[in-house]
Amino acid sequence: MTVRELQDKIIKLKKETNTAVLAHCYQAREICEIADFVGDSYKLSVDAKGVAEENIIFCGVHFMAETAKMLSPQKRVYLSSKHAGCPMAEQMDRDMISAIRAQEPDRTVVAYINTTAALKTVCDVCVTSSSALKIVKALDSDKILFIPDCNLGDYIKKQCPDKDIKLLQGGCPTHARITVSEVKKAREEHPDALFLVHPECTPKVVELADYVGSTTGIMDYAKKSDKKEFIIGTENSIVEHLQYDCPEKSFYPVSRDLVCHNMKLTTLPDVYNTLLAISGEDREACEILMSDELIAQARKCIDEMIRLGG
Ligand code: 13P
Ligand code: SF4
Repeated sequence: MTVRELQDKIIKLKKETNTAVLAHCYQAREICEIADFVGDSYKLSVDAKGVAEENIIFCGVHFMAETAKMLSPQKRVYLSSKHAGCPMAEQMDRDMISAIRAQEPDRTVVAYINTTAALKTVCDVCVTSSSALKIVKALDSDKILFIPDCNLGDYIKKQCPDKDIKLLQGGCPTHARITVSEVKKAREEHPDALFLVHPECTPKVVELADYVGSTTGIMDYAKKSDKKEFIIGTENSIVEHLQYDCPEKSFYPVSRDLVCHNMKLTTLPDVYNTLLAISGEDREACEILMSDELIAQARKCIDEMIRLGG
């Protein structure tokens, strides 16, 4: 079967099973093509709230499907590749953050959305990379604990010098892999290119950027720019998407290693098999199941994110 034939089968099955597909933009091109919604973490959270279909298949990682379930609890939500998790989301747990809260009760806990639902129950507000600065600035509180990504936290902290922002040692292992020497080498090879970077990279790499932004922030910037060449400092799927979308421009990965293997676990056959499971008897096998209590507790900080970030 060709890729196109499989995509057509998926599109037909989506209709028959009343299913919408949400895909993070780190997904492969052929998956984005069959998705109803594609975007960064913030956009997909907002999109999940407004899905009309009865079922949602999430192509991304586990915390994203959990977020979609919390925002659309009346829908049945499925993660197309059940082993796709975000290592950063597993770095801190509820007990660890509850203990810090008990020691420093006056700190507002700001959680990057890359956290588990269980951890979100003890946080005050969520942020994504595209909404973090706006939300932290909008908070009444000046004493903040920002978890788990210390690189994104450092980027926010530098722009909010009046706030006391405490960081912990966590972060994205994929983005943290980019080194200053890789950036310098890419700049030497492409002296006319702008360097666009995700704030999950280390502060030393972020310092070298011409633009810092979320996944879709980087894509929008490159599309609108008059410049013709760009070095991309985020997951390499963005290089491929941009090259398709803007064939007259050139996009270079800052490093060949900038691949999130969890995001890349999802394949078109996974999406097809999930649709088959939805239409069959084994549907609960790949469904995101959460108690009403967990949804109610964890959802508060996501609602707060959408209220402050909108
Ligand atoms: P954004 O979708 O907010 O750009 O975050 C990137 C990421 O690493 C998602 O896991
Ligand atoms: Fe997690 Fe980083 Fe992969 Fe995003 S890119 S899912 S933060 S490991």
